[in-house]
Amino acid sequence: KPEDLSAMAQVLELACEFFVHRLRHREQGRVAREYLARRGLSPELVQEHRLGYAPPGWNHLIRHLQSKGIDPELVVRSGLAVRSDKGTVYDRFRHRLIFPITAPNGSLVAFGGRSLDDTEPKYLNSPETALYHKGRTLYQYATAMEACRATRQVILVEGYMDLLAFHARGFRRVVATLGTALTPHQVRLLQRLADEVILVYDGDASGQKAMLRALPLFLRQGLAASCVTLPLGMDPDDYLKAHGLDAFTALLGTRRELLHFAVDAIASTWNGTSQDKVRVVKECADLVSDVQDPVLREDMARLLGMRLFLSEHAVLQHFSRVPKTAS
Ligand code: CTP
Ligand code: MN
Ligand code: MN
Ligand code: MN
Ligand code: MN
Repeated sequence: KPEDLSAMAQVLELACEFFVHRLRHREQGRVAREYLARRGLSPELVQEHRLGYAPPGWNHLIRHLQSKGIDPELVVRSGLAVRSDKGTVYDRFRHRLIFPITAPNGSLVAFGGRSLDDTEPKYLNSPETALYHKGRTLYQYATAMEACRATRQVILVEGYMDLLAFHARGFRRVVATLGTALTPHQVRLLQRLADEVILVYDGDASGQKAMLRALPLFLRQGLAASCVTLPLGMDPDDYLKAHGLDAFTALLGTRRELLHFAVDAIASTWNGTSQDKVRVVKECADLVSDVQDPVLREDMARLLGMRLFLSEHAVLQHFSRVPKTAS
């Protein structure tokens, strides 16, 4: 129902204002403001991104919205409240730093909330609603749309804090997936704003795995992708804090094609036996099954051949012979 969608949009807007006010509140917002300061986010940046604070307690937001005549049921449908098994309704976000999330067109659709202590999960996000589709959203896409117009190049990071670390340094050609899952729809969105996507995921095992998983999506979409690997244990936020934007820009110069990175990563799992060579070639063959361009296929075959002490010819034969085993 369209009237429901606009009512939901109004609830999200009122909630956003509520969270912003709670963050500014002298006493209530202090812990969250101190947290933001510790993480290097200035009041100006906080204001620009409309970051907020959800106070502790079970129904501050619900009661605030009710005082404005809003039905708690609508708050549930908007993703901001949860209905318990017993039928009672309570605030989803409690004692959390709040990040508003906008759709590609810039309209407010969801929130992310970071815990300010050791409460799990570290991040809690709005569920899928009639307005919010996680797989069709990229954090700060509308901003990047403007910023990427000239260069047609965009940086892709995992998290809120990574993206904000760039914005804090005046760099806005960046979007975040909010996690390591990337969808075909998000890749199509990326293609609208850039001709090259540079993945800068966390320097840990899950970041590396996510880069490998992303490759087929870029290949299928025919969108150029490259990547930078950060020092072990660092994410872009950590890196920018430790080394600054200039060092990061220099690091960008060392980026590698995602396809090359992936072949290298797979080749490095070779245990040295002939038997295992077959496995490695098969794994790479699965990757290049999405590659149409014969130049790229030959390139990959040569690279892999060098790593495994095989002729390019032998690898290429395998590439064309082996049927795809995974999608
Ligand atoms: N994420 C999530 N739910 C979690 C953990 C992570 O939705 N329980 C998403 C968040 O969008 C987060 C991103 O995945 O920003 C990357 O996760 P992680 O690297 O663990 O967090 P950071 O972004 O580095 O957060 P921080 O620096 O605040 O610890
Ligand atoms: Mn992060
Ligand atoms: Mn991580
Ligand atoms: Mn991280
Ligand atoms: Mn981090």
